[in-house]
Amino acid sequence: MIIYINDKPCEAEVGDLLLHAAQRHNSHIGCICGGNGICQSCFVYIKEGAESLSQPSEEEKAFISEKLFQDGGRLACQTVITGAGTIKVLSRAENLRRIVIGLNVPGFITYAQTIGYNVLNKLPGGAANVVSRVMEGKLNPADSIGKIGNSIGYGARLAVHTATENLPILQIPLSVISGAAKGVFDTASGLVCTVSGGQLHLPGSTCSSHETQQTKPVESITITVK
Ligand code: FES
Repeated sequence: MIIYINDKPCEAEVGDLLLHAAQRHNSHIGCICGGNGICQSCFVYIKEGAESLSQPSEEEKAFISEKLFQDGGRLACQTVITGAGTIKVLSRAENLRRIVIGLNVPGFITYAQTIGYNVLNKLPGGAANVVSRVMEGKLNPADSIGKIGNSIGYGARLAVHTATENLPILQIPLSVISGAAKGVFDTASGLVCTVSGGQLHLPGSTCSSHETQQTKPVESITITVK
């Protein structure tokens, strides 16, 4: 089946986590804690197809306010596709990007109020949820650190992929870029004064460092020896 994450079609199957479907297709959903239900960076809005998804987990209930649930809020690392159907998902980061790019001031104020309310009201419960999972042995801090490391690696790969996809200049072969860069560097290094390290040897004029050193003193003083 095809689901849509940030409007990007992604191949997915019943049983998939939304987060994994997004990662397989380089559709950006955050995952700082590596899917441990701690960081909320994988927060998404379900725009369509909530009936084809699992019920909210205890971790989601601990972190997400009723208001955000009503807006379709879920954690992608906790949400499993349970049935076929049209599913459309918008990540929090993409939602915010669209608000900012659209200069949607009222939308931004509503967004900030909702997130602020959620943080104030759910942070204590969310923290308690994490502590109780650690104490019950359901959450292993060492394992979590490993997952965070994996997430950072994934984030870096996604950033490179997104940059090359959206910035045509990065699709030029590396040899061409390095050749051009070398030419620019050679030209620039010939212009910079090696004595002052900063002044320029501009065409038609003389570097003031060299001019000062070679031709005229800065000032003169008279020394009298008795
Ligand atoms: S990835 Fe951290 S809560 Fe989902």
